[in-house]
Amino acid sequence: MKKNILVIPGDGIGPEVTTWGKAALEKIAEIFGHEFVFDEALMGHAAIEVTGEPLPDETLEKARKSDAILFGAIGHAKYDNDPSLKVRPEQGLLKIRKELGLFANLRPILLFDELLQASSIKPEILRGTDILFFRELTGDVYFGEKIRSEDRNTASDLMIYHRYEVERIAHKAFQAAQQRNKRLCSVDKANVLESSRLWRETVQEIAKQYPDVETEHMFIDNAAMQLIKNPKKFDVVLTANLFGDILTDEASQIAGSMGMLASASVGESTGFFEPIHGSAHDITGKDLANPLASILSAALMLEIGFGLKDEAKLLVDTIDEVLKEGFRTHDIADQSTNRFKVLGTAEMGKLVLKFLSQKL
Ligand code: IPM
Ligand code: MN
Repeated sequence: MKKNILVIPGDGIGPEVTTWGKAALEKIAEIFGHEFVFDEALMGHAAIEVTGEPLPDETLEKARKSDAILFGAIGHAKYDNDPSLKVRPEQGLLKIRKELGLFANLRPILLFDELLQASSIKPEILRGTDILFFRELTGDVYFGEKIRSEDRNTASDLMIYHRYEVERIAHKAFQAAQQRNKRLCSVDKANVLESSRLWRETVQEIAKQYPDVETEHMFIDNAAMQLIKNPKKFDVVLTANLFGDILTDEASQIAGSMGMLASASVGESTGFFEPIHGSAHDITGKDLANPLASILSAALMLEIGFGLKDEAKLLVDTIDEVLKEGFRTHDIADQSTNRFKVLGTAEMGKLVLKFLSQKL
């Protein structure tokens, strides 16, 4: 299979981890006889520095032409403590999501048995958890009108949904639930928000078309609590943009670390694959970042973007083997025991490639 892949390393630890996601794709191409052609482009702070824009036209053009995008991370410390800056790295990510019509963000909470101890939640509560989040990605308060009063003392962000936006992601989530354990939990705040009442009403309507799926509706505050109390009760979770952003960071603790979670953004065109973690300025350039989320993003590209299930499975199984052999990056190593061999970013990346090479 021939595919054009655009790599957007982005900011912070983005370039360090994306190197290994890309290398894993190259190795998979070698093993299975595919031809993956790579190009690279700028986004975020890295792009602002060079072009003044967080999403240069050239990047968007390359993105539209590619078959899939592997992205790293976005953001820079400089902007976090200076809300007055008008041009911000995150605008690049939001714009590319909107421009490419990437309305569905799939975030699987993939729990490796080996990492049960890495979580702050008790292993017996975690064991057997397997959740797939569907986070709506191009609507909500993220894209509603933003207003700041002339005297600068009042600000508002419009939380807005259109019925068709809820319908299209609901269909995707229900279809996924049909392929999994046939349970779907839709999360909203319909006791307070009108946009959530539209959300719930729409999901209830769509649910009628999927009678084999058991549908439940939950308020976001309760869902945040249930997720930690009894994560096993969830199968597919469907939620809005902001709630999904917050809930999936929380859910990353089920998998042991943000450094282990990948996501796939899909919709109208080219799929976009990225770790859910951020740019992590505090550890940038220190060889401390976990490259496994980028490699797992590559696995999602293979599976969801290209339909290459065996290739994706090989990547996930290889990571499982590496973990079983006791290799860890800092974020998933229990420092209180010396059972683990703690590796830097590059060492971990190379080790995954070495294990993959043994499959040749
Ligand atoms: C994510 C990130 C982004 C978001 C930021 C960087 C804009 O937190 O992908 O989860 O809020 O969507
Ligand atoms: Mn987030």
